[in-house]
Amino acid sequence: MRALVAGSGPPLLFVHGFPLSHQMWLPQIEYFQSRYTVIAPDLRGFGDSDISNGIVTMEQHAQDLNSLLQALKVEDPVSYCGLSMGGYIAWEFWKHFADRLHALILCDTRADSDSEEGVNNRLKMADLVLRHGPEAISTAMIPNLLSESSQQKQAQLSENLISMIEATSSEGIAASQKGMAARSDFSNQIKNIRTPTLFIVGGEDRLTPPEVMKGMSTLVPDSKYFEVRDVGHMAPMEAPAAVNQAMSEFLSACSNI
Ligand code: MLT
Repeated sequence: MRALVAGSGPPLLFVHGFPLSHQMWLPQIEYFQSRYTVIAPDLRGFGDSDISNGIVTMEQHAQDLNSLLQALKVEDPVSYCGLSMGGYIAWEFWKHFADRLHALILCDTRADSDSEEGVNNRLKMADLVLRHGPEAISTAMIPNLLSESSQQKQAQLSENLISMIEATSSEGIAASQKGMAARSDFSNQIKNIRTPTLFIVGGEDRLTPPEVMKGMSTLVPDSKYFEVRDVGHMAPMEAPAAVNQAMSEFLSACSNI
């Protein structure tokens, strides 16, 4: 697994969404590396990491992250920041490696699993990408990733996302899409999380809307909720200043640094 590692200080792990790479976190990497050891991997099948065919489960991704931390000799508990699929992986990471967690930051994600229709749509998308490549889905994904206002005012973001998606291998996309279709439902388990948690959501997020995120924050005991106006599913890219500030305040309160 390839990872960008930068800066020094307590470990801060950034886990990207689907079908993206560590590059979605560039504004956070730049901002936090002066105070944290920032670790931003490309998950199996994405970015510069190796590809697996078949299915890559959320548990496999969590195991890969643990192996990465071991390889980097990170012993201190990490602050784990994940977006969407990065959040699905966070639940598995918490389930298997709770003692490795210092804090959780969950952006634009959900704890439940998919409906039958959702599963079927994922399997269709995996098949489409395997037959026609990521170009078959890249442009069509943008309205679900960015708010209308971001699409109009920050045209570069659409281009960056399309490039990231089109640079991803079809096999990698299909394998994680199938893994997401098979993911476990954590909605009854998140009340047991004892790690300080921050939920961040774009007010215009269509995929994981504010009410879903707010609902989770009422279940996780030691948690905070932050909604960013006018932005969509990619809140950390669309509103980096607001997201960085919310993260920074939360992390400082967690560690007194
Ligand atoms: C993501 O941003 O990671 C995706 O929206 C996750 C998903 O397809 O459920």
